[in-house]
Amino acid sequence: MVYQANPARYESMEYRRCGRSGLKLPAISLGLWHNFGDATLLDNSRQLLHRAFDSGITHLDLANNYGPPPGSAEENFGRILREDFLPYRDELIISSKAGYTMWDGPYGDWGSRKYLIASLNQSLKRMGLEYVDIFYHHRPDPETPLEETMQALDTVVRQGKALYVGISNYPAELAAQAIDILNDLGTPCLIHQPRYSMFERWVEGGLLDVLQDKGVGSIAFSPLAGGQLTDRYLDGIPADSRAASGSKFLNAEQLTEQKLDKVRKLNALAQRRGQKLSQMALAWVLRDDKVTSVLIGASKTSQIDDAVGMLANRHFTAAERAEIEEILV
Ligand SMILES: NC(=O)c1ccc[n+]([C@@H]2O[C@H](COP(=O)([O-])OP(=O)(O)OC[C@H]3O[C@@H](n4cnc5c(N)ncnc54)[C@H](OP(=O)(O)O)[C@@H]3O)[C@@H](O)[C@H]2O)c1
Repeated sequence: MVYQANPARYESMEYRRCGRSGLKLPAISLGLWHNFGDATLLDNSRQLLHRAFDSGITHLDLANNYGPPPGSAEENFGRILREDFLPYRDELIISSKAGYTMWDGPYGDWGSRKYLIASLNQSLKRMGLEYVDIFYHHRPDPETPLEETMQALDTVVRQGKALYVGISNYPAELAAQAIDILNDLGTPCLIHQPRYSMFERWVEGGLLDVLQDKGVGSIAFSPLAGGQLTDRYLDGIPADSRAASGSKFLNAEQLTEQKLDKVRKLNALAQRRGQKLSQMALAWVLRDDKVTSVLIGASKTSQIDDAVGMLANRHFTAAERAEIEEILV
């Protein structure tokens, strides 16, 4: 059956300006790090993309290395794009990145001009695209001059292979330098993608202020701490969860009793607010204007519905904010 997008898809989503750019992003974006590689049934990945787009989630976040195996998320996404989304290409913001290990030898990792430009060419081929909307440098490279990495980002925009560029995982001071270099080159930095959730707050009082001052947007990845800030692990580790999957990014040891105690308290507060913990955790990341979009992952369409449902109740009283601070101490 030919996919027909929901005609009401723009009604329930909020679109927020990304820094001082002309681009608006949905308050919720979908990442394809997990659940789009070759180990996932293509049909499940397809259903996730349909549900996201039908809910107004216009921004899809990929990287060269997403899978497993690396590259397979872009390939599978490319296939679904070709089969279902070509009529909607101009309604989508598609991002990719390079910066982590992608291929053998000295040119398949970090931040050289050689690696970034070759990697973007590969990503475009895998996805069957002429350009990506946003291309990121995925992590700082301590050895390559920052100027070289930023010049490579500038080049791909001038080549028409990316419309905008961003940086990810850059600490505040380095981010400020990168943003200034890009401004001097005439290709402003659109966005920074840091990890940010109730459990990981390094961006506060530093990076987010730099970005706001410089008019750069921000998109918070892993806002649910990979699923820890949900009701998923309240009664043990479900067999179909990330923590049970052998992931090196989330495992049983990380779910300490101390953490679960916080999760239970947060869950009780969310219930008093009349929402799920996952919804409260997303609303909290969006609680002021410094974060443009929350970048979620999902293994089930119901998780996308939960995220979108958050928008109906995303403001906090001063007392609720204070209670959250107390729980998180
Ligand atoms: N720039 C970077 O370095 C970087 C690094 C990491 C991620 N990212 C980006 O950020 C995206 C999101 O990362 P993430 O997947 O870690 O984000 P996340 O939103 O913190 O975690 C997503 C996981 O939480 C669980 N979940 C989601 N909604 C739920 C709900 N309503 N109820 C219960 N459980 C729920 C699901 O786990 P189950 O599988 O257990 O169902 C889901 O896969 C990635 O896809 C990628 O695009 C970027």
